[in-house]
Amino acid sequence: MNKLRIVYATKTKHSKKLAQAIGNALNIRAENVSDNLLPLEADLLFLVGGIYGGESLPELLAFVKSLDREKIKSVALITSCVSKKQGQDTVRKILQDKEIPVVDEFICQGSFLFFKIGHPNKDDIQEVVDFTVRISERRKY
Ligand SMILES: Cc1cc2nc3c(=O)[nH]c(=O)nc-3n(C[C@H](O)[C@H](O)[C@H](O)COP(=O)(O)O)c2cc1C
Repeated sequence: MNKLRIVYATKTKHSKKLAQAIGNALNIRAENVSDNLLPLEADLLFLVGGIYGGESLPELLAFVKSLDREKIKSVALITSCVSKKQGQDTVRKILQDKEIPVVDEFICQGSFLFFKIGHPNKDDIQEVVDFTVRISERRKY
């Protein structure tokens, strides 16, 4: 079995754009965390989200808290932020406490107001897609 899922949380649509590009590349639907998702099962779950005041969105954190470690075999994080430095540390911590392994994290250039305007751009999106394809091929079951 090699079941992939993509879930994103977004405020300004960057994560949606990234998640949809990944979905197109992997041929699966990207799901918005705000759509009352049913309990998930996945061999590899991509969690896509931005950083706001150093944190992930509360709805993403609530979703991660709801994950069942019997049903989620591994997670990869795709993060977009203006600093290109901050990761989804709280998400990581919750997953660690649940003993759900995080295989890798990719931090993509985002933008905020006029800082780094235009990002994530075409090249940023391609880098994210390349990362996810690489990870999903590495994790074939
Ligand atoms: C209210 C707000 C707070 C933000 N705080 C941070 C931050 O602390 N660090 C950072 O690197 N980027 C920060 N950003 C930039 C976002 O992480 C970046 O724009 C990201 O791409 C947003 O993803 P989204 O469009 O999916 O919501 C902030 C953006 C907003 C709107």
